[in-house]
Amino acid sequence: MGDVLPTAIEAARAAGALLRELQAGPRTIDHKGVINLVTDGDRRSEALLVALIRSRFPSHSIVSEEGSDHAGSGEVCWILDPLDGTTNFAHGFPFYSVSIAVTVRGALTAGVVYDPNRDECFVAERGAGAQMNEGPIRVSAIADLTDALLCTGFPYDIREAPTGVVAHFQAFLIRAQAIRRPGSAALDLAYVAAGRLDGFWERKIHVWDLAAGALLIQEAGGRVSDYAGHPLDIHRGEILASNGLLHEAMVRVLCGGEGGER
Ligand code: IPD
Ligand code: CA
Ligand code: CA
Repeated sequence: MGDVLPTAIEAARAAGALLRELQAGPRTIDHKGVINLVTDGDRRSEALLVALIRSRFPSHSIVSEEGSDHAGSGEVCWILDPLDGTTNFAHGFPFYSVSIAVTVRGALTAGVVYDPNRDECFVAERGAGAQMNEGPIRVSAIADLTDALLCTGFPYDIREAPTGVVAHFQAFLIRAQAIRRPGSAALDLAYVAAGRLDGFWERKIHVWDLAAGALLIQEAGGRVSDYAGHPLDIHRGEILASNGLLHEAMVRVLCGGEGGER
């Protein structure tokens, strides 16, 4: 991977600093859907990331949420969420992140999630473990759902299709110690990697929301899959992530065996 990871860290930190700066002033907020926002923060962060990556690696491909994609000529692809937690950012709720993943021939190879409000940078490289601000991180050792702090997210079409989302939420609500919905899937997944949360599930989620966080969890000793426990396909829009110990119990809840429904 050579110098890809240092560039990913530099880019995530620079974009995060920009978001913090913009957060302090008036924000420009547009709508992509009724409850799906896009701000000047999303656009300017994306422009910064893409310019930096293209200046260093012109042959690499880029896929980014707000559309500044670039078709490179090689096998390396950068997957960017320039601002994960746009709703939080738009309201001045300080929980959002910049997420950067790198794949080589389709395989996740590096991941960085940066939280500019706490200056916490979560970094994973395939086979080299996971770190937060350069110290090693590991998933939690919680083995029972009843002791678990779980986390989820809701899709932007929740008004049109609430049923399955609510059923899964309800099923976990009566089994877990507590549930959080902080609003930045990338950072939520980084928290699972760091042992601050024990499990996470979300459907209709995009590759830029989950790619970096999934590698962080794998490298921190946890497990990522689809709701049925099958190997994660980062492009399929569904993730179940856990410390590993809770995984089968969470699959049972999500697949209907314990009150959830598909
Ligand atoms: C969203 C956040 C949210 C999750 C949504 C994502 P955005 O990303 O990660 O927590 O529930 O599914 O789309 O729009 O803020 O980049
Ligand atoms: Ca996102
Ligand atoms: Ca985003």
